[in-house]
Amino acid sequence: MYSEKVMDHFQNPRNVGEIEDASGVGTVGNAKCGDIMRIYLDIDENQVIHDCKFKTFGCGAAVATSSMATELVKGKTIQEAMEVTNQAVMDALDGLPPVKVHCSLLAEEAIHAALWDYAEKNHIEIEGLEKPKTDIHEGEEEQEEEY
Ligand code: FES
Repeated sequence: MYSEKVMDHFQNPRNVGEIEDASGVGTVGNAKCGDIMRIYLDIDENQVIHDCKFKTFGCGAAVATSSMATELVKGKTIQEAMEVTNQAVMDALDGLPPVKVHCSLLAEEAIHAALWDYAEKNHIEIEGLEKPKTDIHEGEEEQEEEY
């Protein structure tokens, strides 16, 4: 059901932990399953992400996607990090089962939330970045279940 890469990142997650005095921290939850993901970014004066750590209280797919997401944004500029979408994370993991796609949304949203925090602290705007949700189900109550 899961790719080898998903199993690997679930069993040996990279970049677990927190960053003290992080440049940006983002926490996003999914009220439906109760899972929570927090991403810490350490960003230098050239807007390059030097380090990234995460803490995820969630399912295996959420752990694997946060692990892969932190690997993908490390070394990137904040603008490049905007391209690390949930699709990019899933592709890097060789896919996720359809019922687990929403778990990867937590990773994308948590990165955006951390970037938003960084932008607010530094009084800058990041192109294409919209105020992130704290719960990925916010405003979606009326929609059909997709997973
Ligand atoms: Fe909640 Fe995966 S089931 S994030």
